[in-house]
Amino acid sequence: MQTTTERSGTSGLDSSETNFPSKPCILLIFGASGDLTKRLLVPSLYNLACDGLLAENFAVLGCATRKITTDEFREKLSGAEDGIRKFHTRPKFDEPVWDKLISKFHYQSAAFGELEDFKKLKEKVAELDAQHQAGGNVIFYFATSPSFFGQICENLFKAGFKEGPGWKRIIVEKPFGTDLESALALNKELHANWDESQIYRVDHYLGKETVQNLLAFRFANGMFEPLWNKDHIDNIQFNVCEEVDVGDRGGYYDTSGVMRDMMQNHMFQMLAYLCMEPPSSFEPDAIRNEKAKVLNSVRIYTPEEVEKNFVRGQYGASLNADGTVAKPSYRDAKNVGPESKTETFAAGKLQIDNWRWEGVPIYLRSGKALWKRGTEIVVEFKKAPAPIFRGTRVSELAPNRLIFKVQPYQGIELRFQAKIPGPTLTLQKVDMNFDYGDAFKASRYTGYEVMLYSCSHGDATLFSRSDLVVAAWQVAQPILDYWKSAPAKDFPNYPRGSWGPVAAADLIERDGRAWFEVVTRDVLERTPLFKGGDPLLLNSVIKALYACSVEAGEVIIQKGDLGKHMYLICRGEVEVVDASGAVTATLKDGDFFGETALLMSTERTATVRAKIPSNLFVLNKADFARILRDHQQFLDVIQKVAKERYDLAVSKDHVLAH
Ligand code: BG6
Repeated sequence: MQTTTERSGTSGLDSSETNFPSKPCILLIFGASGDLTKRLLVPSLYNLACDGLLAENFAVLGCATRKITTDEFREKLSGAEDGIRKFHTRPKFDEPVWDKLISKFHYQSAAFGELEDFKKLKEKVAELDAQHQAGGNVIFYFATSPSFFGQICENLFKAGFKEGPGWKRIIVEKPFGTDLESALALNKELHANWDESQIYRVDHYLGKETVQNLLAFRFANGMFEPLWNKDHIDNIQFNVCEEVDVGDRGGYYDTSGVMRDMMQNHMFQMLAYLCMEPPSSFEPDAIRNEKAKVLNSVRIYTPEEVEKNFVRGQYGASLNADGTVAKPSYRDAKNVGPESKTETFAAGKLQIDNWRWEGVPIYLRSGKALWKRGTEIVVEFKKAPAPIFRGTRVSELAPNRLIFKVQPYQGIELRFQAKIPGPTLTLQKVDMNFDYGDAFKASRYTGYEVMLYSCSHGDATLFSRSDLVVAAWQVAQPILDYWKSAPAKDFPNYPRGSWGPVAAADLIERDGRAWFEVVTRDVLERTPLFKGGDPLLLNSVIKALYACSVEAGEVIIQKGDLGKHMYLICRGEVEVVDASGAVTATLKDGDFFGETALLMSTERTATVRAKIPSNLFVLNKADFARILRDHQQFLDVIQKVAKERYDLAVSKDHVLAH
């Protein structure tokens, strides 16, 4: 689909369309020596500065317990190894912009429990305010462990920060509590001396362009809103799948798990945007009121309902072909106990008990160490009545799907069916695709720019509110309680690099549905054939993939047959068998096989059969040839790849034959 961009309104952060910089202020960061500051806050201030969106009257005061000087602070943030030159997100580094920005950074240490230190901070802020003419405005950024939030709030208040000219705002990082009770206690601590209107709770998912675009998409386009209900939508799926493992965050993660780390916050926020009623305006509280309403309508499960509607998983090691450990299990991660019952994966079904969504299942799935990184929201519409196609060659109708791609690639895709040209009535899946990168300058933001910018403007739309946090915990709490009372007995229950525990597939299949898997370019690039491939070629191949399932023992490729397909294992396990019947390799979730058949139709050199019931994606040689006929510019590349990576000399005719 060709997308033209006709602009309306002044939203967005691109200086080419709106030149309003952030408001003058002093940004006082608590926890300034930590990871968040160097990885996200500083790069986002730098991005704002590069785009001319950072106020001239601005300065940063970094604060942590560590005693370092302003020069040392600046030096650390400027470093190539561990500073802005490593963490900036732009294609080119702009020295003059950085030099000017870093000259506005200052540092002063403080013990978070020491009132005297806060009084000194107040003097320093007043000095910077006078120097930079910030009008008394201060943003306090809490980038510390939540256990310090109460203390910092209290000492800021006692030191007199709330008084004087200008506004004072507090940005709080997640987690907002570790359960319902601690979230209520945290809110109480924050509210003891500060008003809710001064508190900005960050959920970095709300800073993601595609998540923000959910609101624009739903409420600025008249086409979909009438369909946005139980009459037309069959189910909604939220996937937040990560390829990374817990890394060295075991200490934190083992007290958290995926429900607290991803679902209760990021995923419930996306759910609220997608499912809320239209707000009366785009005023922050109009939107947040609707979000709170929909979260309050999510059914709160009994223990029996949790058992029925949620599954959990923990990743085990991945193994080499000889059975040795390739990558260790979750329980072997740093600061994780050998018997840990913490879930690194969860999948479940929620119900929203209101007029709009009654009976529409909302499926959620998230986990670490899976075979693909991808955050997508799939809205599956009800199928058209198949019987009207009786007597034609159409045996099955796929439902229309609207897919919001949040990351790694950002865009929106609408899948539908179209007739294949020719005398008979046969259908093929096609799509209309909006790719952020094609329509706009690809987003180069970290997600924190919009947070800092909006907070300076007093716009709380993208921040969570105390009642929203509580509503989200109310849904999550019974699930956590049940899991605590009935610890998992089968952990670890999925190998690294897989699609998670089998029970997650069973959960949705029980309802006669399946997880809709979005194959990304990253996945395709795992085969030598497509590594480094042009996005246009890769996207065309992805669109041509179709799904199929095989039973245990079923032969997928027979030695000696002419090959005409490439396969990607979505979920399952297959064995490669040689002429003597010996198994020479076992392939699993995310692995490819048979791709040389796309280059030339030669006899298969081995048999491949399913070891367990498996779901595959298949690419037909005829479709591949069609793609290359449509995009002949890729023919040379494919021939080169065939030679260099497969030692196959293939002619253009070979590749185009089907
Ligand atoms: C964080 C979680 O909030 O979000 C991490 O603590 C997770 O565990 C991260 O990896 C995912 O964020 P993103 O932006 O990479 O999807």
